[in-house]
Amino acid sequence: MSSRITAPPTTTGRTARVTGYVEDVSPGRGALPPRAWYAASDAASLSLNGRWRFRLSDTADAEDDSFAAPGYDSGGWAEVSVPGHWVLQGDGAFGAPVYTNHLYPFPVDPPRVPDENPTGDHLRVFDLPADWPADGGAVLRFDGVESCARVWLNGTELGEFKGSRLPHEFAVGLLLRPAGNILAVRVHQWSAGSYLEDQDQWWLPGIFRDVTLLHRPADGVGDFFVHASYDHVEGHGTLRVDADVPGRVTVPALGIDAATGETVTVPVEPWTAETPHLYDGVLATAGERVPLRIGFRTVVLEDGLIKVNGRPVLFKGVNRHEWHPGHGRALDLATMREDVALMKRHNVNAVRTSHYPPHPAFLDLCDEYGLWVIDECDLETHGFSEQGWRDNPVDDDRWTPALLDRAARMVERDKNHPSVVMWSLGNEAGTGRGLTAMAEWIRGRDGSRLLHYEGDRNCRDTDVYSRMYASHEEVERIGRRLDGGPRRRRELPFVQCEYGHAMGNGPGGIADYQRIFEEHDRIQGGFVWEWIDHGISHPELGYAYGGDFGEELHDGNFVCDGLVFPDRTPSPGLAEFKKVIEPVRIEGDGRGGIVRVTNGYDFADLSTLAFTWSYEVDGEPVASGPLAVPALAPGESAEVKLPEPPATGGTGETQWTVRATPSEDTVWASKDHVLAWGQLPVSRPPRASVAASVGPVSGDGLITLGPGVFDARTGAPRTIGGVEVTGLRLDVWRAPTDNDAGAPWQDDPRLGPLWRTLGLHRMRHRTDAVEAGEDALTVRTRVAPAGRELGLGTVYRWTSDGSALRLTVSVTPEGDWTVPLPRLGIRFGLPAADVVRWFGGGPGEAYPDTRAASMLGAWRATVDELQTPYVRPQENGARADVRRAELGGLRIEGEPEFWLTARRWTTEQLDAADHLTDLRPGDLVWVNLDHGQMGIGSQSCGPGALPQYHLRARPAEFSFVFSAAGD
Ligand code: GAL
Repeated sequence: MSSRITAPPTTTGRTARVTGYVEDVSPGRGALPPRAWYAASDAASLSLNGRWRFRLSDTADAEDDSFAAPGYDSGGWAEVSVPGHWVLQGDGAFGAPVYTNHLYPFPVDPPRVPDENPTGDHLRVFDLPADWPADGGAVLRFDGVESCARVWLNGTELGEFKGSRLPHEFAVGLLLRPAGNILAVRVHQWSAGSYLEDQDQWWLPGIFRDVTLLHRPADGVGDFFVHASYDHVEGHGTLRVDADVPGRVTVPALGIDAATGETVTVPVEPWTAETPHLYDGVLATAGERVPLRIGFRTVVLEDGLIKVNGRPVLFKGVNRHEWHPGHGRALDLATMREDVALMKRHNVNAVRTSHYPPHPAFLDLCDEYGLWVIDECDLETHGFSEQGWRDNPVDDDRWTPALLDRAARMVERDKNHPSVVMWSLGNEAGTGRGLTAMAEWIRGRDGSRLLHYEGDRNCRDTDVYSRMYASHEEVERIGRRLDGGPRRRRELPFVQCEYGHAMGNGPGGIADYQRIFEEHDRIQGGFVWEWIDHGISHPELGYAYGGDFGEELHDGNFVCDGLVFPDRTPSPGLAEFKKVIEPVRIEGDGRGGIVRVTNGYDFADLSTLAFTWSYEVDGEPVASGPLAVPALAPGESAEVKLPEPPATGGTGETQWTVRATPSEDTVWASKDHVLAWGQLPVSRPPRASVAASVGPVSGDGLITLGPGVFDARTGAPRTIGGVEVTGLRLDVWRAPTDNDAGAPWQDDPRLGPLWRTLGLHRMRHRTDAVEAGEDALTVRTRVAPAGRELGLGTVYRWTSDGSALRLTVSVTPEGDWTVPLPRLGIRFGLPAADVVRWFGGGPGEAYPDTRAASMLGAWRATVDELQTPYVRPQENGARADVRRAELGGLRIEGEPEFWLTARRWTTEQLDAADHLTDLRPGDLVWVNLDHGQMGIGSQSCGPGALPQYHLRARPAEFSFVFSAAGD
């Protein structure tokens, strides 16, 4: 791209309202050719981040450009922070964010944009530091501005640019003054560039990444390309640094001192995401020293597989948008570091930078901490799908220069990162010649990485067959090479660039995907959609989502579909993903005293991990110790003998829990952080049964049975062991999750709506008989919705041994049940419940297809802690496999184990809430004890729950034993 024309600067003072560039398909005018990005060198630099003067206009041409001229009085202007988005500042005074998934929030008439085009004029006055060198030049670097900017320095126009998440530099040396420099930037929210930036996210105008003035010394470093490959046969690294300006490259640890352009081969430790060895080096020209961090690795497509350093890799990835609930896409370094550390702590090994190149510092962190990166270009034209892709810019030669400019700005900026193993042309942009042109340009410039683009089903331009949201069944077929398609595609490896839509409760079924990924070589893993919920902090709503700012078009909470909540608290989905992709498998039968350990890494051996065992009785550890596990190579397994189990003499349920942690503190985790675990059951003695030794006694409209007092008319319990029990009855309803509700465009029937059509949210309970028999109180009922013939014959049978009360619920479906049930169990209200103790799965929530991370143990939490704060309230918080629980003065045992949920509001209130702030605690804690729960699936975008996780309406019987809790 060095052929781009640098237009001569023009001077201001004209009053003409020049806005043609806004709707011009070209990438802009005046910027320097793109080059490698680096954070620092020994050349001077000056950050221009901070408070800037700011004026907002409604249209692109409301004001002339006189504000850019020296002497302009900006006294009446407001201020904003740079980096920042103006719509997230000024408490609503500067407009509001807009969220659409794929629809353009303006009429589709490329490259025209609406008259209403919020335009932010930004002004910053700065002095050069006293020691700013007098010689050489300087460039002004913008790392990201959405969506189109025009720039002046000291009254001279430098040019204008589009390409929001890409850097643009301007030569400014001759214009600088020691003091009182006036930098003026006019930013338009909408431009021709907006047609190329239709990603599913908030539209957020502003100068949202750093602005920096960089001194360019005479003979300073220009562009440079670090080629650092690894020969896995010889164990050698080969280094060559190509540079515009000749100089020397030194890498002290490797004894390298070579000229630029010279090739050196030496023995090295290779870079991988699991073993991120970086060598510090320096690129020195006559005028400048730039620090290098060099990682040696080779990425190839070989035998139909993506191989790094000779070995196939399995991506355990996430899609990462840049997000902060207060600052939008303006992220600081600490936040980026938090993302990377959180990913590493949760066993994530790969990131797709959906759907634009991230802040460049993020890639430095990926190099340092170790993550495979698919670096994706800032390109999406999804809205054209509404018109059958007619007029799609990627298939219109007029736009090709803009596409090539975007490809070049990404590749040139990021080419020196070992973490980047694939370039991605963009996302959901259909197909067309422009994409092919990008692919050809990228291949010509950088043959050392592979090419990705999901929209290219025939893989004409790509090195990997990529899909999003393919079902388990389809992925399995692809793995078995039964999927067909053109020959080129059939010979390529497969990745799911998006799967496991993490919207609200879920995603379900990722363990099932992982099994398929691991079974078939061709499948090289996937990237969960997505890393973080894009909720915006809001004073009344907690977190706002689409529609909360009065947008005329929006896609609601579809923008909140991450594995971490907006504040980066991990959601249960992340805990599940961490367990599903753990790097070590720990399995076995506890009775045999042998644990089988398998190294699931692709490159690292197990020498960096430490193992411990613990022996538990009813979930309480009674003994623990270290476990010596050999430093297994990738893929190897070993059977390791556990110690003799301690003599506990008790009658409790016993098991081993084996954990793997880092053997030393690392930059991203301390050595007590559990990376992988397994549980090996030893014994589960049968529970002592409750003999029906006392019978019901009637009197005064009440029936007494052991510790229970019942209403003689309805047969419902009023108190158990003195604890008031409200409204105990069968319950089948759950507040539909985003995955139950499904995305409107899914072909399959969506459960949430089907359930409502049947009326499962308004079941009526009819009492047919209350029978006080000799040794049992039996209550016969029918539970059914209005307007339908289907129902559930439900019998509650209560017995007691005098101190405990046993309830057996028998359910018989009647009529034509064609849909699975949301849940099946009982619910009731308890006063004064707060702390909950349970022996069962924990510590977090689990559902039938999201239960991999549920660990059997003795857990404790408050009712508030049991809630999962999904941005849009919905069913949440169930604990799986509960053998017994204590709350509100009651002890409850399940026969068999049950799903436990407790909350301070009813399911109906949860269902009605739109935001967390709509949920107000009532006087009672509502407890659900479920025999069954419907699976979760991923149908908010993708397949629903697999058939084996469906809760079918079938005859069922389950029991609970209630007694007064001990202290
Ligand atoms: C994909 C798209 C993502 C996101 C996701 C649904 O189609 O690539 O950007 O929209 O669906 O959340």
